[in-house]
Amino acid sequence: MKINTIQKLILVLAVSLPLSCQKKNSVETPMKAHDAHSYASPSEALVKHLHWKASVNFEQKIISAVASWTIEAQPGVDLITFDTKGLTIEKVTAANEQPLEFRLSENNALLGQALAVLITPNTTTVNIYYQTSPGAEAVQWLSPQQTAGKKFPFLFTQSQAILARSWVPCQDSPGIRFTYDAEVTVPKDLLALMSASNPKTKNDSGVYRFEMKQPIPSYLLALAVGDVSYKSISARSGIYAEPTLVDTATWEFADLEKMIAGAEELYGTYQWDQYDVLVLPPSFPFGGMENPRLTFATPTILSGDRSLTSLIAHELAHSWSGNLVTNATWNDFWLNEGFTVYFETRIMEKLYGVDYAEMLASLSLQELKEEIETMKADSLAADTKLKLNLGNRNPDDGVTAIAYNKGYFFLRTIEEQHGRDKFDQFVKDYFTQNAFKVMTTEEFVPFIKDYYIAKFNIALADSLCNDWIYSEGLPAYCPTPNAVRFQKVDEVLATWKATQQLDNTVIAKWSTHEWLHFLKNLPAPLSETQMKALDAAGHFTKSGNAEIFTVWGTLAIQNNYSEAYANIEKFLINTGRRKFLMPLYTELMKTEAGKKRALEIYSKARPNYHFVAVNSLDKLVK
Ligand code: BES
Ligand code: ZN
Repeated sequence: MKINTIQKLILVLAVSLPLSCQKKNSVETPMKAHDAHSYASPSEALVKHLHWKASVNFEQKIISAVASWTIEAQPGVDLITFDTKGLTIEKVTAANEQPLEFRLSENNALLGQALAVLITPNTTTVNIYYQTSPGAEAVQWLSPQQTAGKKFPFLFTQSQAILARSWVPCQDSPGIRFTYDAEVTVPKDLLALMSASNPKTKNDSGVYRFEMKQPIPSYLLALAVGDVSYKSISARSGIYAEPTLVDTATWEFADLEKMIAGAEELYGTYQWDQYDVLVLPPSFPFGGMENPRLTFATPTILSGDRSLTSLIAHELAHSWSGNLVTNATWNDFWLNEGFTVYFETRIMEKLYGVDYAEMLASLSLQELKEEIETMKADSLAADTKLKLNLGNRNPDDGVTAIAYNKGYFFLRTIEEQHGRDKFDQFVKDYFTQNAFKVMTTEEFVPFIKDYYIAKFNIALADSLCNDWIYSEGLPAYCPTPNAVRFQKVDEVLATWKATQQLDNTVIAKWSTHEWLHFLKNLPAPLSETQMKALDAAGHFTKSGNAEIFTVWGTLAIQNNYSEAYANIEKFLINTGRRKFLMPLYTELMKTEAGKKRALEIYSKARPNYHFVAVNSLDKLVK
């Protein structure tokens, strides 16, 4: 009996969609590794271009859109699969608007639903008519109250790692690239921006057009809508922010063009034409997100003294590591982040000198060592390898200091062992030769080994890669940053421990980083008198510097320093950046009294956090 198309769809969804790895990997496809976090089967049918026509409805918190995908299928393949999460699919059509048959699989809490569409050998376009749900996980809808201007609502998306599917039906795997263009309609007083060519001013129609000519993976799809204005820094760079913040932000990031030029001198031409930064409202759950041409950034780096701009260097560096050469799956996340921390540190060294960069590296090593200890204590030792195994788990579990800082120190080890000149030549060629391609850890190892042999006749030891990539914890020969400016801090710490005195002439010159090193290395516990004296010297409770405030707040909770409690609560309510929320709530949850306060604060603050923050905090604050 010949099965009909509907039966075929049902069969496909039932048989091939469970997480097990059954996908064929034919040689000519760009997919090199199976991605456990996507339903797509790119060796069979692949997306090439997206034309996205959307309209944004703030009243209903819904995006209504048509995603028109240009596709390529292998001969004989009669089905293409997309990832979706919480989308309502109205209809699916071909280029001529003839309906195409489709089915959605059962919902998986992590991966969402597969959308399977039946195609013929002639199908080159698949139009998906759909709406997002108000709870779409990538999208945060802000009330005017949650913005700086308090007058207009705001919307932003955060697609990495696997949330793009909650606002665009797509093949949501970092190994699959496509170009896109878009036409987005928004309320009249608002500007729309994407990870693409962007408008600089509002228009009367509320309709904005975008184009991304370079192929990108879906996690780099991004949209923001709000009352935003633009101020340029150079011909190819500038700042988008709410009007009341745009001057402050432009001052803070005044070195933006120098960073881009410095990055280019290090590792080759910037490939994305324009580089702008969008400063978002404080509920943005990350520090920064490297959306191509338009980094999304937290306002918590507006410290007023330009001391937190390494975050911009980091997101800029992703224009090479990540956006040009992309981790094939989330198990290879260290290739994105480790290279980016390395590149970021080199940009900072180029602009501000080696003493500055070594402070960053030293803080990074301390954080790494602490994280490894915590992970071991939490039975997560397996996750301290660079190469991860996140099948059946949220890729968010891989966002730890391992990918970032252990990745950095691995690369720095190679640099130190065989010389900076050689390593720089390697990094530059690595980016050039793999531009707009995908990289697995398993391909990276022979790539660097072959390179060092061919170019320098140097055989990189097998143990080097094995110890860093496939072993837990830190290898014995991890480099130690030479942070000379922290030696002074250590002297101040020693004097303080002995005499309780701080030399005002010394501490008056300290930057954020010196204070962080100081606060993180204070003895425990601290008495109320000591906390008070420290606060009087450094004004930490009133600090507008979110990095410093978080470390101080943690100390305050540990030492029952109640004078800081009101500001901790304010900070937790007004900030949505997960990196700051986690340590403060974690510390609160350690005692009964703290737990009570944490739950109270969380019940007020939770509605204002983005899904990714809530997703982590729900597991902690309960
Ligand atoms: N790409 C990341 C953010 C990210 C990673 C989002 C994984 C979702 C999943 C971004 O480049 C990043 O690393 N941001 C850091 C800042 C950086 C200076 C370490 C952050 O947000 O804290
Ligand atoms: Zn990053």
